[in-house]
Amino acid sequence: MSWVLETSEVRKTYRMGSTDLEVLKGVSLGIAAGETVAIMGPSGAGKSTLLHILGGLDRPTAGRVMLEGQDLYALPPPARNAIRAERIGFVFQGFHLLPELDIVENVMVPALIRTGGWRRRTVERRRAEDLLDRVGLAARRGHRPTELSGGEQQRVALARALMNGPDVVLADEPTGNLDTHTGFQVLDCLFELTSDRHHTLIMVTHNEQVAARCRRTIRMVDGLIAVPG
Ligand SMILES: Nc1ncnc2c1ncn2[C@@H]1O[C@H](COP(=O)(O)OP(=O)(O)O)[C@@H](O)[C@H]1O
Ligand SMILES: [Mg+2]
Repeated sequence: MSWVLETSEVRKTYRMGSTDLEVLKGVSLGIAAGETVAIMGPSGAGKSTLLHILGGLDRPTAGRVMLEGQDLYALPPPARNAIRAERIGFVFQGFHLLPELDIVENVMVPALIRTGGWRRRTVERRRAEDLLDRVGLAARRGHRPTELSGGEQQRVALARALMNGPDVVLADEPTGNLDTHTGFQVLDCLFELTSDRHHTLIMVTHNEQVAARCRRTIRMVDGLIAVPG
């Protein structure tokens, strides 16, 4: 089996004063291209830590993370950052939009990071506008994030996550700050956008109904995978 994302024996330890807190205790998993995977488990189980490690944001204390056959943490940081910008899209629980930028510019930010500037501004702008159309926000183009509802802001964040056409989308409780109805609207958008282009989707959620929409569910308890899905 070839995996788009694979971990072997990933561990993460935080040093707290004179004691070590082992947050991930040897996580091994493989995720195939185009899969949709939910990660569930109690608060503190290590879900966010794992997601950050999968996305190249946080170095594990031990173990390996392979993204499309490349050992992410064996790469020098600039190469890892470049791969992350091209291949991975992130969606967080708090939308993390930049308040000074309008929503089109917010969606364009990953392109800026990838290319190191606004070089092909018109091409990038058109793509950002297309993505905003697809999440139902065509009419809000000139608006700033603070002028939008939470659900709308999260849809902007979805568009931003897809700006660079990532292979993998990582979402950490993307509906955690939204009411049930709005949350489901955002999820509809997320599943539509990701299945259209066969992105791989890995989503942390506390909601069984949300998890049921994914092809499989990985359950984590206390830094370990309890049920591999
Ligand atoms: N930077 C950090 N320093 C110390 N402890 C941390 C840090 N980040 C997370 N932790 C601890 O690691 C554990 C797992 O956290 P997290 O991955 O956020 O869990 P989850 O997302 O499953 O709720 C928690 O006990 C948390 O307090
Ligand atoms: Mg978390």
